Amino acid sequence: MEISDKQHAAERAVEYIKNGMILGIGSGSTVNYMLKQLARRIEVEGIQIKGIPASKKSEKLANELGIPLTTFAEHSHIDLAIDGADEIDEQLHLSKGGGGSLVREKMVDSIADYFIVIAGADKLVKKLGAFPLPVEVVPFGWEVTEKRLQKLGCKTSLRYQEDKTFISDNGNYIIDCQFETIAEPEKLHQEIKSLLGVVETGIFANMADEVIISEQGNLRSMKR
Ligand code: A5P
Repeated sequence: MEISDKQHAAERAVEYIKNGMILGIGSGSTVNYMLKQLARRIEVEGIQIKGIPASKKSEKLANELGIPLTTFAEHSHIDLAIDGADEIDEQLHLSKGGGGSLVREKMVDSIADYFIVIAGADKLVKKLGAFPLPVEVVPFGWEVTEKRLQKLGCKTSLRYQEDKTFISDNGNYIIDCQFETIAEPEKLHQEIKSLLGVVETGIFANMADEVIISEQGNLRSMKR
């Protein structure tokens, strides 16, 4: 059976998981493949790991698959984090948060000793920006925060899901910001972060240690 590129990259990343690790579990459809393959390794090889999930969805799937989970209250350190991305540029800066889990993803991915991104080649771009940049904002006064974001030169839209305002796992709103091209990801991240009402941005600059890409079945790895 032919498998998709995202599944292929996800299954390769599972080979990096070693017995005894605390694993950061990202979020999204690519990560879901990673979890399914990890569950197979746990069943077949009996490896023992504990995961810290970056979203309620990942937590639910991990529980369904019988993958042991833990929390930051018990473990303040993560050995390896594996996560997907919406865009990956040539410097391995990422745009994330298409699924709305950017805050927890950033907390999990940033604390890991080693952070691997898994994706199909369709996520590779020269520059970030074609995919609208998700920004998580505090619900109170979001209209004011949106105007502040617009002053940075983007078109904005408040995220909806099934006709209702999308609420993140942290109880916040997401404003998707269309910048077209993000020339300096770290600089833009800092500018957005300095705005009152902003919780976090989906720019993950200088964070990925390794990116595993599958392109029509061919795997390649890029390191920072
Ligand atoms: C979730 O908030 C995102 O950051 C995901 O990691 C990203 O959207 C990639 O998702 P897919 O693996 O579903 O493409």
